[in-house]
Amino acid sequence: MRKLPLTPLAAAALAVVTLLGVLARPAAAQPASMLFTMFCARCHGATGHGDGDDAASLSTKPQDFHDCAAMAKKPDDQLFNAVKGGGTSVGLPSDMPAWGTGLNDQQIHDLVAYVRGFCK
Ligand code: HEC
Repeated sequence: MRKLPLTPLAAAALAVVTLLGVLARPAAAQPASMLFTMFCARCHGATGHGDGDDAASLSTKPQDFHDCAAMAKKPDDQLFNAVKGGGTSVGLPSDMPAWGTGLNDQQIHDLVAYVRGFCK
């Protein structure tokens, strides 16, 4: 059977769909460790000790996520809401930015699990 030639419009639509697929895939597939390195490490430190490059300039030092006694007192929803709504949403300083517009709930959930992982 002869292949149907693509009309220019169909070809353009196909190109857009392909491009969107390519753009969407890396974000969806990014593991929490990569998100943490990209967005969180500058304050929280590459390994979560609260010693990122920008930490010194903050008015509040980020929590050492390896301080398991302190972390155990913080419920998951506090950590989730701190990331989604920013520090002020859970009574923490505004130094902690809100990520709810840049990250989806699944990504935030994965990041909370990643942060918890420092105490496992
Ligand atoms: C500009 C610096 C900065 C960046 C970037 C940042 N944080 Fe924070 N974060 C803070 C500060 C300061 C606090 C408040 C002190 C604390 O409790 O750690 C905080 C608090 C938190 C808390 C709550 C801890 C608690 O004590 O209840 C979590 C969870 C958290 N951050 C995760 C993240 C994640 C995940 C990212 C990346 C998506 C991120 N943070 C990016 C500075 C930052």
